[in-house]
Amino acid sequence: MALPESFLEEVAARNPIEEVVGQYVALTRKGSNLFGLCPFHSEKTASFSVAPDKGIYYCFGCHKGGSVINFIMEIENLEYIDAVRFLAKRAGLEMPEDTTYRSTYRRQERLWALCKEAALFFHEKLSSSEGKPARDYLAVRGLTKSTVTRFGLGFSPDHWTGLLEAMQEKGYTKEELLDAGLAVRSQEKGAIYDRFRNRLMFPIIDVRGHVIGFGGRVMDDSKPKYLNSPETLIFNKRRNLFALNIVKKSKQGRIILTEGYMDAIALHQYGFDCAVASLGTALTEEHAKILAKYTNQVVITYDGDEAGQTATKRAIGLLEKTGVQVKVLRMQGAKDPDEFLKKYGADRFKVLLEKSENHREYQLLSLQSQYHLELDEEKVAFSKEAANLIATFSSAVEREVYGTRAAEAAGISPDAMKVEINRAFQRRIFQEKKKQESQILQPARTYQPKMKGMHYENLRSAIAEEGLLRLVFKEPVLLPSYEELPAEAFSSPILAKIYRALHTLADQGVVAALPALAGILSKEEMNHFSAVIQKQDDVITEEALRDYMEIIQQEYFRRKANTEKDLLTIRNQLKEKKGYGG
Ligand code: UTP
Ligand code: MN
Repeated sequence: MALPESFLEEVAARNPIEEVVGQYVALTRKGSNLFGLCPFHSEKTASFSVAPDKGIYYCFGCHKGGSVINFIMEIENLEYIDAVRFLAKRAGLEMPEDTTYRSTYRRQERLWALCKEAALFFHEKLSSSEGKPARDYLAVRGLTKSTVTRFGLGFSPDHWTGLLEAMQEKGYTKEELLDAGLAVRSQEKGAIYDRFRNRLMFPIIDVRGHVIGFGGRVMDDSKPKYLNSPETLIFNKRRNLFALNIVKKSKQGRIILTEGYMDAIALHQYGFDCAVASLGTALTEEHAKILAKYTNQVVITYDGDEAGQTATKRAIGLLEKTGVQVKVLRMQGAKDPDEFLKKYGADRFKVLLEKSENHREYQLLSLQSQYHLELDEEKVAFSKEAANLIATFSSAVEREVYGTRAAEAAGISPDAMKVEINRAFQRRIFQEKKKQESQILQPARTYQPKMKGMHYENLRSAIAEEGLLRLVFKEPVLLPSYEELPAEAFSSPILAKIYRALHTLADQGVVAALPALAGILSKEEMNHFSAVIQKQDDVITEEALRDYMEIIQQEYFRRKANTEKDLLTIRNQLKEKKGYGG
């Protein structure tokens, strides 16, 4: 994002990190740093730190970290540019006229307008003579006229270029239709035609009221049943939920999370104006956070089949982390809410909703259903598994309550169950302690990145690479030139990328400040870089830099030589095989 560096510096300077973070987290000073309870994961002891002198925050528990901009991105769930805007506003600064940003915004505005026109087009087609099959289908599905209007449902005609032509007449280009995901280009001939043909259309509207995409359902058994808009400049499936634009005004005090468009719509029609659906994807962390912004209770009503139950467990994990109360609604006699409502009506659904299980109960009952509890050996096996599960519940009260329930289910005394749970609990604590100790005893392992899925292949080099980045970050003039030390010499791809980013900024005459880096590196990369900066305070000298560089180069040559040796061995082996002799 091409915001001028001077502006970013101004934004950062006028938003001291301890002050901004302090509005969300109660911080206490310990030495030069401040500590508090991490807002990004639930914890009881403060492992979230803020270093005002470095301008960063870092959590030793969940390993998130970054500049004040990253903090706002994370906690307010904003994109980079919007986080900058947020902080600029907080400090009373005007956003500069940023050309890339403005042109992106202008393109977005065009696509929003186009999608709105398309939604109108589909909606009108629904009441036209062409729309008869779709109207008949809606009647079969039992959707009322007012529901159709409320959701702006429509019909895409059985025609290759119906929408394309209508939109071109309104001044939109083929390119724009492609960009909006409304048209596709054929692979062979390059012809451009409508993506949605002969389908019932569900416009997807974001919380600001923009039409950002569509779902389209066939009206017979052909495949795919639903076709969705692809990801576009304005449509991000990971961050948008169907019907949230309506749900955000609901007064029902909870959000019902469903699997499908039809489920959400049926719920609204039957008076539950608080139902959303995730859009043809599994629930994401972003979805969970967004839901938590609008409510403090989420009721999951996924399908009763195995896929639905697996998705439920995943969703529980994601939602639990946001701190909302999570409940699970179990349905019998119907596969999904839409079917249930049609068969049994709203009142019976209301009953289910009121007695929906909180997620602990759901987890325990799911486990219970896997055992034949009339058999003694299964009772024993269930008791052990239940104890393991309950031992992971963080509150003692929950362990007590669900321990008693599990005991009842297994037909054993609550005291016996309690003993099992305590044992499992102690075992967990012991294992965690051991893990910590072994990490302390094995510095090599502690040095490995804490981030999931990341591993340093060449530890000696990686330690030096980290050290070098730390030095350069604190004293940018020390940045070695590419000739002296090319990025290829780095053993860790992520550290190499950060090094390259520092060079890119230096080439633009920009000091490698965190706010500028936040615009180049991904969230994960920023987390990692913050961890690196936070690790220790080096003595800043050229000598330290030389040492690091030497190690990096040595290891680089060693790796190269090994590769060459390997190649040579392979060549020799090939020669021998072919009988050329050695
Ligand atoms: P389901 O197959 O459970 O459909 O898909 P449904 O919601 O019960 O729909 P009806 O009642 O048959 O009309 C659930 C959701 O999964 C996504 C859609 O978002 C759908 O609402 N999906 C399903 C797709 O994206 N593509 C498909 O082909 C099928
Ligand atoms: Mn259905």
